[in-house]
Amino acid sequence: MEEFHKVRRLPPYVFEQVNRLKASARAAGADIIDLGMGNPDLPTPQSIVDKLCEAVQDPRTHRYSSSKGIPGLRRAQAAYYARRFGVKLNADTQVVATLGSKEGFANMAQAITAPGDVILCPNPTYPIHAFGFLMAGGVIRSISVEPDESFFGPLERAVRHSIPKPLALILNYPSNPTAQVATLDFYKDVVAFAKKHDIIVLSDLAYSEIYFNDAPPPSVLEVPGAIDCTVEFTSMSKTFSMPGWRMGFAVGNERLIAALTRVKSYLDYGAFTPIQVAATQALNGDGSDIAEVRNIYKRRRDVMVESFGKAGFEVPPPAATMFAWAKIPEKFRHLGSLEFSKLLVEKADVAVAPGIGFGEQGDDYVRLALVENEHRIRQAARNIKKFLSTADETMHNVISLNAHR
Ligand SMILES: Cc1ncc(COP(=O)(O)O)c(C=O)c1O
Repeated sequence: MEEFHKVRRLPPYVFEQVNRLKASARAAGADIIDLGMGNPDLPTPQSIVDKLCEAVQDPRTHRYSSSKGIPGLRRAQAAYYARRFGVKLNADTQVVATLGSKEGFANMAQAITAPGDVILCPNPTYPIHAFGFLMAGGVIRSISVEPDESFFGPLERAVRHSIPKPLALILNYPSNPTAQVATLDFYKDVVAFAKKHDIIVLSDLAYSEIYFNDAPPPSVLEVPGAIDCTVEFTSMSKTFSMPGWRMGFAVGNERLIAALTRVKSYLDYGAFTPIQVAATQALNGDGSDIAEVRNIYKRRRDVMVESFGKAGFEVPPPAATMFAWAKIPEKFRHLGSLEFSKLLVEKADVAVAPGIGFGEQGDDYVRLALVENEHRIRQAARNIKKFLSTADETMHNVISLNAHR
């Protein structure tokens, strides 16, 4: 029987191959240090958990909730944007709560895409950016992920040579997987470009609060007039260590928010009310929980950069996100990121995410997630050092270390 049309458009998940190896190594007793999936390991702050427990005692919270988010939650998100970015939002018409930003993004694609619509999407990038639109019948045209002047030449060409003219442009800074951060000046140029060509801007700001220097990542909505063409997605998963709770937001242009809200109203009844109540409290907090999470990731980042560097695996320090994006050591680069990632599981007991899983432009890299503690990150570095220093003797009959891709 032929595969269903939509399923055919979804290639097997690359990460699944590494996950399978990881599972069988663990079943055989190996202690795999998992820097693969971006799944925060930190517990949700106790005050947020307590609020959930309190709210769940009220039977009224057990009924269907509100698909677009309870009013207090939407007001809390609007207040966050005002406080953090100086962006004023109408909580009724410019904010919708989503079941995590991934769901919001995918349903925005459902809401706005007609078959064959062209979407400009960074490569490499977080998979839902492309696959959300592919599932909705769209066509992806890859663009650069570099947030500088080099972004615009190829972008201009992509617009000129796309038929039909692209519908939307996807941004994701701080970037997963590359950890690059955009400046407000870059966003100004993007918004001017989008307006000139009448293109929608969809910005994924999942890592708004996970940054390591004195320059918090800006929102594209800070650009005057950006709201005419822009929606931005944020997430509570990383900011408050709430990945399993599934709570995120889309904010921005009223017409786009209305389209997403409408589609969602047919699909879901919103997150469980106690989750929405607890999320409201989290957003209205004093920021100390966020600062603590940020500091933990920062210390892990520093340990990773130092210990991996000493082990002979250069890891550039990411300025934001919970990931490092590291070039595969030269001797192994010809293998490609999937084979190299498999080797790390088999020979060093370390799992990483192969760059190819984020797009063809990622194949010289692996992504290292800061989701193990400092002690385990140091252990990973020791394992990798041993692997790298013995590879010549132990692997010459397994793979060619001199070949070219
Ligand atoms: C860039 C980016 N966007 C969205 C998500 C998904 O976030 P959520 O848990 O809010 O769906 C992630 C999670 O890793 C991410 O890295």
